[in-house]
Amino acid sequence: MKWRGVVMAVLLLAASIPLAMAQSDLKRPSSSDQYVPRLGDIMSAALSQHQKLWLAAKAQNWELATYELGQLESSLAEAAMQYSGIPVSNVTTLKDPLQSVSDAIAARDGRKFAKAYGYLTEGCNSCHTSMNRSFIAIRVPTGQQPFANQLFSPPRKP
Ligand code: HEC
Repeated sequence: MKWRGVVMAVLLLAASIPLAMAQSDLKRPSSSDQYVPRLGDIMSAALSQHQKLWLAAKAQNWELATYELGQLESSLAEAAMQYSGIPVSNVTTLKDPLQSVSDAIAARDGRKFAKAYGYLTEGCNSCHTSMNRSFIAIRVPTGQQPFANQLFSPPRKP
């Protein structure tokens, strides 16, 4: 198959996949000519920044932790800016945990950091839940392997 044929096949396949959730709640700016990353891509970056933030703090590399926190904040800000369907309140609820993480880093306090990081992680999940994506479950990393901060097992039935 020629390259164009492959692209067409992929496009057709994508169009035929019944999406479990409406994407209309996540509108991108339509008037912009600029490249706008897909929300899932911004979030995938956030996932790795979230993990690296933890690993850096655990290793007491506070300079790297500061950097990763800045990257994560930029990702979240970009998501909120580009995707107007995300309720602002969902983003602002992360403000306090982000500030606490920042304070803990400045104080080089590992215990404070762990606590603040827990709240931050809850913030990720409360937005996912409020946007019908509770199946995207973020957790405190269990290690250094990729995606160690995402939970893949299905939720337990009550
Ligand atoms: C303000 C709301 C909001 C917050 C806060 C938020 N997310 Fe998300 N996230 C979303 C939405 C909405 C999606 C689904 C995107 C889609 O359907 O295309 C998503 C998807 C994801 C995905 C799936 C990406 C993929 O394609 O596999 C990951 C991973 C993720 N988020 C990580 C995080 C992490 C880590 C945090 C916290 C640091 C976070 N998110 C905070 C709204 C949020």
